[in-house]
Amino acid sequence: MADLDDLREGSRFGIGTPVESQSFHIKGADNLPWGMKDRLNRIFNSKTGKSVMLAFDHGFIMGPTSGLERIDLNIVPLIEYADCLMCARGILRSSVPATANKPICLRSDAGTSILTELNDNVLIDIEDAIRMNVSAMAVMLAIGDPKMEATTIANLYKAVDQGTRYGIPVMGVTAVGKDMARDARYFGLASRICAENGANIVKTYYCDGFENVVAACPVPIVIAGGKKLPEFEALELCYKAINDGAAGVDMGRNVFQSEDPIAMIQAVHAVVHNGLTPQQGIEMFNDLKK
Ligand code: 5RP
Repeated sequence: MADLDDLREGSRFGIGTPVESQSFHIKGADNLPWGMKDRLNRIFNSKTGKSVMLAFDHGFIMGPTSGLERIDLNIVPLIEYADCLMCARGILRSSVPATANKPICLRSDAGTSILTELNDNVLIDIEDAIRMNVSAMAVMLAIGDPKMEATTIANLYKAVDQGTRYGIPVMGVTAVGKDMARDARYFGLASRICAENGANIVKTYYCDGFENVVAACPVPIVIAGGKKLPEFEALELCYKAINDGAAGVDMGRNVFQSEDPIAMIQAVHAVVHNGLTPQQGIEMFNDLKK
């Protein structure tokens, strides 16, 4: 029972001051419940609206990819510079310190090493995602692939149903098969399909006409980095994507395969959040490089 002696009459009712209505800073999220918004807000900085996600889930279908041989040595030192970490559950549990205090976008589907980049019909048990306190679940979609499109859409659908029940957002990741065109028409189609099926974030690739892909997608888009580029070109990719409306990057190889990953992630962060030009970004990279 509370101590009643010190109970006083309230006087600060703010009569005449209307309650401020707050619009939420994340595209398409205004109507989501509080827990979803809280998790999305952990991923996307509330001042800039942007995010630098560090992707190191490659090993789940590709094994010890170059730059990911030792997560403790190659990735853990980068964690403090990332806004969000994207990885698979085995690496999260075994190699990411629980003290990292970063939102986790958990790779929540399974793949095969035979059909690299295309997934089987396997989805994480939502209770396991909850146990790891994840801020989002990432599921890949193979739009346009005659064998895999239906199963991967079903995976996304199931993840959204379960995520919605427990307040966990879902990121749809658009895979690009060898035979698929890497153009605005394809990425626009794939991104929109992710969003229409309930994804709260879409991860896709930058392309010419990217502003149309962003405009037609009702939720935030983050770009994948793709294969390793020279540092200047990778920073230019980030700059163009942000300029054309991306809400951030979810980069892997262009960070952890850089000649100086710690300098690179800081330069990427400055381009994404502070609007540095690619030239300013590369100067920063060169200054920080050891
Ligand atoms: C595909 C992914 C990867 O995490 C993604 O490709 C990001 O890595 P990179 O920047 O190296 O392309 O979602 O499974």
